[in-house]
Amino acid sequence: MIRQKAMLIRAASAIPSSEITNPALYADRRRFLLASAAGALAGGLGLPAIAAPRGEALADVRKSAWTVEEKLTPYESATTYNNFYEFGPDKDDPAKQAHRLKVRPWSVVVEGEVAKPRTFAIEDILKLAPLEERVYRFRCVEGWSMVVPWIGFSLSELARRVEPTSNAKFVEFISLADREQMPYVRVPLLDWPYSEGLRIDEAMHPLTLLAVGLYGEVLPKQNGAPLRLIVPWKYGFKSAKSIVKIRFVREMPRSAWMKSAPQEYGFYSNVNPEVPHPRWSQAQERRLGEFGKRKTLPFNGYAEQVAALYAGMDLRKNY
Ligand code: MTE
Repeated sequence: MIRQKAMLIRAASAIPSSEITNPALYADRRRFLLASAAGALAGGLGLPAIAAPRGEALADVRKSAWTVEEKLTPYESATTYNNFYEFGPDKDDPAKQAHRLKVRPWSVVVEGEVAKPRTFAIEDILKLAPLEERVYRFRCVEGWSMVVPWIGFSLSELARRVEPTSNAKFVEFISLADREQMPYVRVPLLDWPYSEGLRIDEAMHPLTLLAVGLYGEVLPKQNGAPLRLIVPWKYGFKSAKSIVKIRFVREMPRSAWMKSAPQEYGFYSNVNPEVPHPRWSQAQERRLGEFGKRKTLPFNGYAEQVAALYAGMDLRKNY
């Protein structure tokens, strides 16, 4: 249970004491402590605690070569055991609360160091490139993992439409932060909006996926509809959900987690079994829905594809 809230507890303790009497936050903390043992047990195993209604099917999806031959995590686990703190701190909060999210109309501003800044309607993004199904491993920094057939296309497909300039060294991804739709954006758990960043070569790597679906269907709201990032060789928090802005920038951006707990969450956050989190080992992981643990692989098993991006870098310092 403590482990389950691993990311958040640190973030909450970073909140200035002047804000701790905030009643919403106080109530939230009480909820942390009072969460039922049954819920914690089911949730802790990644077994579905609540039923997940199926979504609309996506048409014309082709299989991608960027796929791993591994047993898929059950749909119910991947869509009911989530981290999406804008909807609450518990693993089942997103599946229960994200129905509040309005995913149409939706647009994504793409700006910064680009020759052709543009605001894309989600309908245009869906038509930018052929949709591919890619089965990826996905490893959360908290020590759980899953194998999910995501649907989307490489982020580089979108990037080339806006023509990044040679000044674009990093890319920043910014999620929606709307207090009306997302109840926990009123609570200072993180410095909203949720934001993440990649180095430009990481962003342009073909594995970096702009996802619009999973398991043959439109992305469920709790998984970051209508558009999220998936960076399979990095810890899951790098994969920002419900993105509204993508900025090409000169300087390394500071992500929401770097701001809340810089000693725990670095910019790179590549999956690395040899570098423990300051509060737990990263050597092993547990697949959602399974008992027992398996070894965590360097770069989450994608070393062959991405290790060269970090040639000559000390990955202990650049965690
Ligand atoms: N994006 C936003 N906007 N808000 C979040 O809380 N959580 C991150 C990431 N993206 C998060 C987010 C974390 S910690 C993880 S592990 C993954 O989303 C979880 O994705 P999933 O719920 O689809 O498994």
